[in-house]
Amino acid sequence: MLKWFQRQHQTIVQSSVFPKPSAWHDAKKEFSDVIDSAQLYAIAGKEFGILQVENEIVPFLDYVAEHTPVVIGEIGLKHGGNSFMFLRKLQDVTLYLGMDLVLENISKLKFYRRDQQQMYILEGNSQLPAIVNKARQHLAGRQFDFLFIDGDHEYAGVLEDLIQWYPLVKPGGLIALHDIVPDEEAKTGVRPAGRLWGGGVYKLWANIKPHFEHKEFVNDWDQGGFGIGVITKPDDHPLSEELVAQWKADGE
Ligand SMILES: C[S@@+](CC[C@H](N)C(=O)[O-])C[C@H]1O[C@@H](n2cnc3c(N)ncnc32)[C@H](O)[C@@H]1O
Repeated sequence: MLKWFQRQHQTIVQSSVFPKPSAWHDAKKEFSDVIDSAQLYAIAGKEFGILQVENEIVPFLDYVAEHTPVVIGEIGLKHGGNSFMFLRKLQDVTLYLGMDLVLENISKLKFYRRDQQQMYILEGNSQLPAIVNKARQHLAGRQFDFLFIDGDHEYAGVLEDLIQWYPLVKPGGLIALHDIVPDEEAKTGVRPAGRLWGGGVYKLWANIKPHFEHKEFVNDWDQGGFGIGVITKPDDHPLSEELVAQWKADGE
């Protein structure tokens, strides 16, 4: 049963050979020179939809761009707006690997990428060994310079993402978590209907940040959810069993 599930959830979506709508050609021509993060945010919202606070993602993108990443990964694409920003802003990227349980706008994302960018999209649970192994195959010995984690928001789920993907990030590379700000449920115990759920990311972030060089991009600590936290993976810093056990116990 598990094998069947894994097979169903590791499809690589190839570039479509169908003609692209002329609106895509027009839009791509128009934004081809745009590199300003705020402008890219506006385009991402219009072309895809994006679940980010502008005052957070814009300075965060500028920060990541300063590190000139070449190999990048993203867990949790949703509509693809954030992915679009990464692909257009990070001009040195030659390999992008994205994954989600449900894929949206992938043909458009591939059409809008920069020419030199190789893209692999994995459909499935980022915590499944089959997905991690598939990613390892695509990386072919390379490691991520930058990984953005915005998939499963359960405490145990984000921790599992961190455990599974940490070894695939190179020393000196960046690992970012989204939703480090406690949401309404964290504050009141009640999950408000119709609002985005930040889950247990804030709690995991509080646990991991003292152990790493880190930076936070938060518009307002009272906003309820959102916020980006980023750690730099140090040289020779495997996640120790003690730390992982401590973090796991804290989530129970
Ligand atoms: C909050 S949305 C991502 C928003 C996106 N990063 C943005 O900024 O616009 C979370 C996404 O993670 C995906 N997701 C949830 N659990 C996942 C898992 N275990 N593996 C892969 N993707 C997952 C969901 O399908 C959803 O598309």
